[in-house]
Amino acid sequence: MHQIPIHIHNKLSQALPNPLLISKAPGRINLIGEHTDYNLGLVLPGAIDKCMYFSFAPNGSQVINIRALDKKEEVIIDINNLKKTAYSWADYLVGILIEFKKIHPTIIGFDAACTSEIPIGAGMSSSAALDCAFITGLAELHQIQMEGWDKIYLSQRSNNGFLGVQSGILDQFASIYGRQDHVMYLDCDSNQYEYVQLPKSEYTWLLIDTGVKHSHLESAYNDRVYECQTAVKEIGAIYPGIRHLSHPGLLDKVASVNFSDTVYKNRAVYVIEENLRVSSFVNMLRSNDLVGCGQLLYQSHKGLSKQYEVSCVELDFLVQWTYDMTEVLGARMMGGGFGGCTINLLHQKDIDKIIAGLSKTYYEKFGIEPVYYQVQIGDGAQVV
Ligand code: GLA
Repeated sequence: MHQIPIHIHNKLSQALPNPLLISKAPGRINLIGEHTDYNLGLVLPGAIDKCMYFSFAPNGSQVINIRALDKKEEVIIDINNLKKTAYSWADYLVGILIEFKKIHPTIIGFDAACTSEIPIGAGMSSSAALDCAFITGLAELHQIQMEGWDKIYLSQRSNNGFLGVQSGILDQFASIYGRQDHVMYLDCDSNQYEYVQLPKSEYTWLLIDTGVKHSHLESAYNDRVYECQTAVKEIGAIYPGIRHLSHPGLLDKVASVNFSDTVYKNRAVYVIEENLRVSSFVNMLRSNDLVGCGQLLYQSHKGLSKQYEVSCVELDFLVQWTYDMTEVLGARMMGGGFGGCTINLLHQKDIDKIIAGLSKTYYEKFGIEPVYYQVQIGDGAQVV
């Protein structure tokens, strides 16, 4: 029996007094390696100590009733007629059910309730946590053995298919395989990964939420995926055997190729360079060179903003503001972009000073109070 916060337990029990099981899955941070996952490159995420929780109770029918307790919304899903609902959160679950049914055709009816500690739209991937908690619970409910990777790919198929977002595996991977106090150095081509222990130091990771929701994220995200695929085709036509933008040594190889500016200079080069930054970052983290790590964060942001063009004025402002503050070692936008939060590396003792200075300036400029999260690195999805 793993721990579950008492207020979460109470909330779930009020909604569903006798659940057969409860599952949970965390959100994630990503230290570096953004938009590299679907380019089969390197990423460095960690699960956070904030989770999505689901309780399940079989109801003997052909219907699934799910209540989203925080939103106070409820859907009834007909197992034999899985289709879009009135709510985007529920569509994630329908997508999962469609994919789950393909591997396990007999789905039983059940009542479920869910609640979350993960802020929605802040870039900590509450949606992957929703998927992973739901899949983990579904597998247990149906007594089927699913490997972590099977859960990750099931969620990705649902995103790419039913939901129409061509996203990679970064979020689900972190949510499933997270380990307390560790980040994970994952190669999205080979699926090999190593746990990297975060150095014990006075420095900490602070997330600053722009308060801007990711408008345009889905369409622009898909555009980036297609642009990268175009770059691969162009490179592959000259260098057969190149399957993705994360091949080691690709930068030298393509230096002489005359690509269109957007696809090559602004997209492909970003991906190639970001991969190099991830491996340097891991080396620096291992040798406790946090100043070096901080510089790579700023470089990553510059690439995301100027070459990959997935930032927004609010994210750029937050990063630029910290750039002028010696207390902050590094900062960059985190996740898909176009809103959400920045991740900042700074000394624990300076947090209050940074918050006080930034809140006022940001409010004056955008009329929004930024929200701050100091997250801890936690474990991956599990039945509790
Ligand atoms: C979103 C996607 C991930 C990944 C990041 C960017 O979070 O879901 O697959 O591509 O954006 O790194």
